[in-house]
Amino acid sequence: MQVLVPIQEHLEFDTDILDVAKKVSQVSHYQDMAIKAYGREVDPWVITRAIAAFERTLVSGNSSFDQWLYQGDLVAMSPSALRGMNLFQSDRLGCTSCHSGFLFTNQSYANTGLYLDYSDPGKYRLTGKESDRAVFKVPGLRNVAVTSPYMHDGSFKDLRQVIMHYQNGIQEHPNKSPLLRKFQLTDGEMNDLIDFLESLTDEEFLVNPNFHP
Ligand code: HEC
Repeated sequence: MQVLVPIQEHLEFDTDILDVAKKVSQVSHYQDMAIKAYGREVDPWVITRAIAAFERTLVSGNSSFDQWLYQGDLVAMSPSALRGMNLFQSDRLGCTSCHSGFLFTNQSYANTGLYLDYSDPGKYRLTGKESDRAVFKVPGLRNVAVTSPYMHDGSFKDLRQVIMHYQNGIQEHPNKSPLLRKFQLTDGEMNDLIDFLESLTDEEFLVNPNFHP
């Protein structure tokens, strides 16, 4: 069902599933595949199932970090990336109080003090609760080094800018998460933390021909 939201969302496709189904059904190759896989012509049912089935194949679990942690490859992570991992997990930085678990997200929502005044209302748009204003989903961080720009509005162009924000840029928004820490990194620590985030890139996943037309 998640498929339907980006299709309808004004900031994304800004259309509706019926219109999409009409367009896709005009492509004979898609019609053939729909019949083959689902025994019916392209329609919203086929599109939602087909995209969901495709998304379930997008499993990324072979980054340097994974090779080190799950495959016992002790040299898969550089010493700098390992230092960065320790910083990431430290109480001093507190990144794992939100970016935790296999996907590096606690699947929750938070305000990270990007602005005092946000133009995007965030989760408030769904719930209408003041405590959800400017609150956004905690994103997972797998392959984060190749998915710039960052934050809900793409306001940071690289990982250094994101970390600089956590270090120096946090604004006192009323909904700012109490889990954010105040910290100062040395230049070396900054590079270590970036190296760690880069170790979450799964090169094999990026070039997997199944994911490219
Ligand atoms: C209070 C919870 C919280 C803490 C603590 C936190 N983050 Fe985040 N992080 C978020 C949220 C929420 C976003 C998305 C904000 C937005 O979209 O405006 C985010 C975004 C990011 C992004 C950008 C991801 C993307 O795809 O746009 C990176 C990188 C990141 N955080 C790294 C870190 C690091 C490194 C730390 C520790 C210094 C940290 N975070 C601490 C909640 C947190």
